[in-house]
Amino acid sequence: MIAVAPSRLELPDDPTVDELPEPLRVAIAGHWLHRASAELGVAVAFGALLPRLRDVGAADAVVALARKAVDDEQRHGELCVRLASRYLGAAVDAPAPRDGALPDFGTGDEPSEVALLCLGMCCINESIASEWIRSCWEIATSPTARAANHYHLRDEIDHARLGWAHLGSDAVSASVRLKLRARARSFIAVNRAGWVKPDEHLPSEGIPAHGHLSAADNDEVIDAAVRDVVLPGLARLGLA
Ligand SMILES: [Fe+2]
Ligand SMILES: [Fe+2]
Repeated sequence: MIAVAPSRLELPDDPTVDELPEPLRVAIAGHWLHRASAELGVAVAFGALLPRLRDVGAADAVVALARKAVDDEQRHGELCVRLASRYLGAAVDAPAPRDGALPDFGTGDEPSEVALLCLGMCCINESIASEWIRSCWEIATSPTARAANHYHLRDEIDHARLGWAHLGSDAVSASVRLKLRARARSFIAVNRAGWVKPDEHLPSEGIPAHGHLSAADNDEVIDAAVRDVVLPGLARLGLA
């Protein structure tokens, strides 16, 4: 049973946003606009993954989660733009989506390509994203930041589940599993490198009240997500 996607989040009244010094409001707006572009790019990527999952015989529940993910990421992008506007105190346009083209892993075998996409995009990236957003929510005291992180988190967990459900299903053969196992560690390394890259918009000490981790805490959260979520999940599937 796939949960119904939550409707548009109305941002709460939040004087803590207006009380921030202008440079910090501009910094946070820059973060959310960058994030909007990323979310919209992921919507494009899930849109491309959806028919490919269907074509390789993925379970109905997996296909339904992928369909929901396209809508979710579009809503996330739209919310990120409104967050940027809220922090700036002025309306801003949605940025162009970041490149959402799916990589080709050169296996020449579509079930392997789709399974590798699920491994990288969902099991690794979305699991890390879920733990990261949970940590951002945990440190936030601003009502806006708490509501936004909660709203994102409830969907990102589903995007991780999509990958785990597909890789744990009969639609993935033993020979495909061997290819997943061979690449799992390098996929984790590539994903980790992306997540520990400093946010160019935010100060390195973060802005905890508004849900932005310090650079050091960010890296600790990413490593914990890999250690406590991704690696145990892969081990359970015999992929690590
Ligand atoms: Fe998202
Ligand atoms: Fe997501």
